[in-house]
Amino acid sequence: MPTLIIVGAQWGDEGKGKVVDHFAAHADVVARYQGGNNAGHTLVVGGERTVVHLIPAGVLHRGTTCILGNGVVIDPKVLCEEIEGLQEKGYLTDAGQLRIDERAHVILPVHCMLDRAREASLGERAIGTTGRGIGPCYEDKAARRGVRVVDMLDARYFRDALDKIMAERGPLLELYGEQPPEIDAILEEYAVYAERLRPYVTDTTILVSEQIAAGKRILFEGAQAAMLDLDHGTYPFVTSSNTVAGVVGSGAGVAPKHVGRVLGIAKAYTTRVGAGPFPTELEDDIGAKLRQVGGEFGATTGRPRRCGWFDAVVVKQAARLSGLSGIALTKLDVLSGIPTLKIATAYDCNGERFDRVPASVSALTQATPIYEELEGWTEDLSGARRFEELPVAARKYISRIEELTGAPVTLISVGAERDETILLRDPFLL
Ligand code: GDP
Ligand code: IMO
Ligand code: MG
Repeated sequence: MPTLIIVGAQWGDEGKGKVVDHFAAHADVVARYQGGNNAGHTLVVGGERTVVHLIPAGVLHRGTTCILGNGVVIDPKVLCEEIEGLQEKGYLTDAGQLRIDERAHVILPVHCMLDRAREASLGERAIGTTGRGIGPCYEDKAARRGVRVVDMLDARYFRDALDKIMAERGPLLELYGEQPPEIDAILEEYAVYAERLRPYVTDTTILVSEQIAAGKRILFEGAQAAMLDLDHGTYPFVTSSNTVAGVVGSGAGVAPKHVGRVLGIAKAYTTRVGAGPFPTELEDDIGAKLRQVGGEFGATTGRPRRCGWFDAVVVKQAARLSGLSGIALTKLDVLSGIPTLKIATAYDCNGERFDRVPASVSALTQATPIYEELEGWTEDLSGARRFEELPVAARKYISRIEELTGAPVTLISVGAERDETILLRDPFLL
């Protein structure tokens, strides 16, 4: 079965984009199936850095079809800008390379305004969202008043739908002290996006099933990560979509029998952007060193990422929830020069031992990690291309992660460049 799902195994920014770009050379299709432009996936090829927020990270490979599935929420302004930016760099010159699902929901200005106004009103209790309107858009989808891509292409329907949304959302915006946007102005602006995007719009679920039937290689590119999943993450400090691998079914219209292999991406340490519990967070010199050496600043908002030790409780949970057949361990190079490394193997929550992530946010906030110490290494790893070229201490670190999470490490990333990669097993054959 030549399909592979790639998901984040921590709190996001694990390097999913890099890994998808690495494998996309051997994929016919790369499809996103949830989230929106809250994601930021960085690709580095030959020293050139490209950040994609919506378009799948396979886009740098001309022969790879990129799909935005029905489960994605699309800000058409951002998407148009992203298409233009890529075209200016010489990518995406063939319109047939990008396909946008007609059932994907559209992010409207009111969604971004509500997201930001709400966060501002929450003050210290804010979630730390990306402010991209993701939550309010998914809310309108669930409330059955959202606008889908196909609706945006139908001017009359769009006006009616927008009237309905603004009737509900306008007063709420006013409550936050914001002036609701003018419906006519939105219609005019979105009519331009609609015409620009029209050539790309189709029912992508048909395309995906045809490709599966033809035995083509399909990569499903997850955004965010297990601990940001709406159900399974550190609620309420999560995103508004499900992020576990099973969501490919609803978000791309693929039957369970067609998907099997799942690769989880995990950093060799842990980071988190935004608020919420983070048991292994380091607010000391080591945390600062990880941030500086790892360049841990958000690709979407530029915010500094919180940094901490590898948390095997989190990654084991992600492995269970998404059925990881393998782990791609990224940013191993960043750990060079730290004499002693720590891995959390369990938590102590007020005297109770947890070897899973507790559902209660207050328990998790009070969790004290139970650590295991491992010897570090000093060598620069960026030149390593084979497992045997890694220092013994680094190999032991990897083996311990495999034991603690129950998933084999099948790829090791030692730098941001596409080829700074040690591939241990073909992911499509895991
Ligand atoms: P994503 O959201 O999961 O795609 O990850 P991001 O792109 O937001 O963040 C990962 C960051 O780490 C990006 O700046 C990547 O270029 C960079 N990166 C990825 N893999 C490695 C690696 O193995 N080593 C180093 N030093 N940087 C990496
Ligand atoms: P990628 O795909 C890291 C976080 C936000 C915030 C919470 C809710 O690049 O890994 P939202 O805007 O989704 O309502 O914000 O989720 N968040 C991410 N953190 N990487 C991401 O995506 C994220 N997308 C959302 O920081 O804490
Ligand atoms: Mg990111």
